[in-house]
Amino acid sequence: MSSSRTAPSTTLAVAVVAAAVGTTTAIAIVSLTISISVYRRCITNNTDLDEDALTKERGYQALKESIPPKTVAEFEAMAMKKLAPLSKTYFQYFSDPSTTTDACRTFFNSLRLLPRILQGDVEQVDTTLTIFGQRLELPVLIAPSAFHVLACPEGEIATARGAGAAGAGYCYNFMLASKLYTDVLQESGVKWLHLYMFEERDLVKAAVETALSAGDDAFSAILLTCDHPHQRVQNRMIPYFMKGKFPYSSLEEPFFPNQAAVGFDTTTLQQLLDPVYMGKMQDEGKNPGGTNSFKLDWEDVRWIQEIVNGKEAISKRSNGKKIPIVAKGILSAADARMALAVGIDAIVVSNHGGRQCDFAVPAIEALPAVTAEVNGRIPVFVDSGVRTSGDILRALCLGASGVMLGRPALWSLACEGSDGLERMLTFLKEDLKDDLRSLGVTSISHLNMEFLWPPDRQRIFQIIEQCRL
Ligand SMILES: Cc1cc2nc3c(=O)[nH]c(=O)nc-3n(C[C@H](O)[C@H](O)[C@H](O)COP(=O)(O)O)c2cc1C
Repeated sequence: MSSSRTAPSTTLAVAVVAAAVGTTTAIAIVSLTISISVYRRCITNNTDLDEDALTKERGYQALKESIPPKTVAEFEAMAMKKLAPLSKTYFQYFSDPSTTTDACRTFFNSLRLLPRILQGDVEQVDTTLTIFGQRLELPVLIAPSAFHVLACPEGEIATARGAGAAGAGYCYNFMLASKLYTDVLQESGVKWLHLYMFEERDLVKAAVETALSAGDDAFSAILLTCDHPHQRVQNRMIPYFMKGKFPYSSLEEPFFPNQAAVGFDTTTLQQLLDPVYMGKMQDEGKNPGGTNSFKLDWEDVRWIQEIVNGKEAISKRSNGKKIPIVAKGILSAADARMALAVGIDAIVVSNHGGRQCDFAVPAIEALPAVTAEVNGRIPVFVDSGVRTSGDILRALCLGASGVMLGRPALWSLACEGSDGLERMLTFLKEDLKDDLRSLGVTSISHLNMEFLWPPDRQRIFQIIEQCRL
């Protein structure tokens, strides 16, 4: 209702009343009438405002949803709507409560940058990283994770394609992949081979020999996951696997085709979902598709070095070169020292995305102590909670050569398969370029602690000191 219509009728009423009951009473009535009129106007206007705001908000949401996701956060939000319940449970899994996962984000967010201005021409900026002789367009590899078919039907083939197209690396989980290594290797791009340190040594040997027989350049490094001395994730996931509706039809196919490829018993999804079969396996102490060992130590790492880079292995390689071995899951300076002592070629500082040891130090917080210990002798990567180009930048300022992405890759695959992964990585690369320009540097190789804001730098020095004790 319009307030301008209220005004003349109010004036007329006041005149009539003033004549009838005298001035004092009229003044009181005028005040009351004006108050009511103002009050009504407020209500009317507020309602207009609310509706207006609501329409704008709806328009804003619709506009946002009409634009395909670009950032990791946008891919995550969309994936949460798209993923089948079983896939979502498996991907999001973290030890309860999610202290470590949250702490990674908190520490990233506590790190402040100190940009330099007017540093000359920053149009051309270099985000490339050469690692083990191979060039990445951005300092990012996709971290090893299992069952990519839970994200999209093309599984690990889509991962390899998306990562390769964007110029990122991909660490392929050989024993827990849902797609055969030969198919994955058809896709171009830098690939590392992921191995769990199984207790079954003949399984490890067969896996390494089979994967490497695909060609000297098939996998440019071998990554050993070293922070997995139990089966907590697998055990907690089994009930979900048995109850969850699986989104795809390949029930009869081997769920881990590479296990069959290396001559070991594999299991179909049908069997994995069958409580009787699974119960029997567990009673027999078997863990179909299981990967861990409770018993491994640094001597086992030496044994893997021998089967990969011993004389016999090298003599079979046409290029006669060693294959670098990367240790994943290091969080302390002491373990970094051990890794150096046994001749590891690179380290991934990781807490497994908070899936293994909750309350563990966030990997990004552990990073400076490890990079200080390593002191540039071998490359150091970090994962767990990396979500933005700013995170990559800050990890590099703390001495990392690059980062690994776990869940973000799975989310983008769930949204749009290989195209989604390629787009997410491409945006990260472009954002990273803009971040470098904002800092006033032209290459990721120029990043160092000087670009961190002093209070955080001091805190980092304290962390390094404490880790030396
Ligand atoms: C679904 C899923 C499966 C994983 N499987 C493995 C694995 O088989 N081997 C391994 O070393 N790490 C595994 N990880 C951990 C990742 O390699 C990586 O360390 C972690 O996801 C990084 O944290 P982010 O997810 O916050 O990026 C897995 C992670 C996820 C989310």
